[in-house]
Amino acid sequence: MRIGVLTAGGDCPGLNAVIRSIVHRAVTNYGDEVIGFEDGYAGLLDGRYRTLDLNAVSGILARGGTILGSSRLERARFAAACDNAKALVEKSGFDALIPIGGEGTLTAARMLSDAGVPVVGVPKTIDNDISSTDRTFGFDTAVGVATEAMDRLKTTAESHQRVMVVEVMGRHAGWIALESGMAGGAHGICLPERPFDPADLVKMVEERFSRGKKFAVICVAEGAHPAEGSMDYGKGEIDQFGHERFQGIGTALAYELERRLGKEARPVILGHVQRGGTPTAYDRVLATRFGWHAVEAVHRGEFGNMTALRGTDVRMVPLAEAVTRLKTVPEDRMREAESVF
Ligand code: F6P
Repeated sequence: MRIGVLTAGGDCPGLNAVIRSIVHRAVTNYGDEVIGFEDGYAGLLDGRYRTLDLNAVSGILARGGTILGSSRLERARFAAACDNAKALVEKSGFDALIPIGGEGTLTAARMLSDAGVPVVGVPKTIDNDISSTDRTFGFDTAVGVATEAMDRLKTTAESHQRVMVVEVMGRHAGWIALESGMAGGAHGICLPERPFDPADLVKMVEERFSRGKKFAVICVAEGAHPAEGSMDYGKGEIDQFGHERFQGIGTALAYELERRLGKEARPVILGHVQRGGTPTAYDRVLATRFGWHAVEAVHRGEFGNMTALRGTDVRMVPLAEAVTRLKTVPEDRMREAESVF
């Protein structure tokens, strides 16, 4: 068989581990040829690819990013190409395609599948917000980075008697904020799922200082927002790429707390640090398992599905099921954190 692989959307630690696993299983066990499309779906549409043999994936298990490159989807061009899926497949001559990506990538994978392309998806995102899978690789690494940052910030915060507002990734779902906030012992956690009131955070900080504590750390997801009328937090401007550019919630909240508390506060935006660098052992193992199962599914002809972690098992689930809604943090998980929301 000739199997195509691509990585699309925002990168994530563990992508190379999946690619390596696919190549090892497909080449060694089945004698397949694996081709890697460059820069996500752009490479598929342009017919830009290279052969991935064992040497091509040697030494990449622990490497962050993706050796294939990635890009965001050009929707209009992609939809037009789906109209002639047969030509798309013939252009590169593959028998099966394994797209590795997040919600956008898997939605596109579903479109390809509906158009008749033999597709098996592999979910990835540091946000852990893809429904149908209990975990995505990359999440554990991101949580580890954010936790370590909070551990470090506590010592400098205490020295200067400051409030640290740590902004982590998560535009629509607050999984990274929830778990890193819990692991890092944040005194307040703000998630996109539940609007927060800065007055509650002020109360929490004042209570801490009144019992002799000299600092506070608040973990806020980038998509968290204040409750209506609780704080002035405006909209940003749209830049030349169509992205909204505005003062992020971490910065806005730090300044707001500083003003209300009369104590120094500092925003710390962790940003893409959470997505870079080497994956944790957990993410390497999950990524490797997903790659292995994706190849098995290809050889069983189970197309239109993606790999998913259910409990401790890897299963195949329909792409249609996976991309209908985002997996957000439920109320009971927020309550377990026992923090200020
Ligand atoms: O979806 C993964 C993610 O890292 C989000 O947490 C974040 O909001 C977004 O991607 C950042 O995207 P970009 O790399 O395009 O700035």
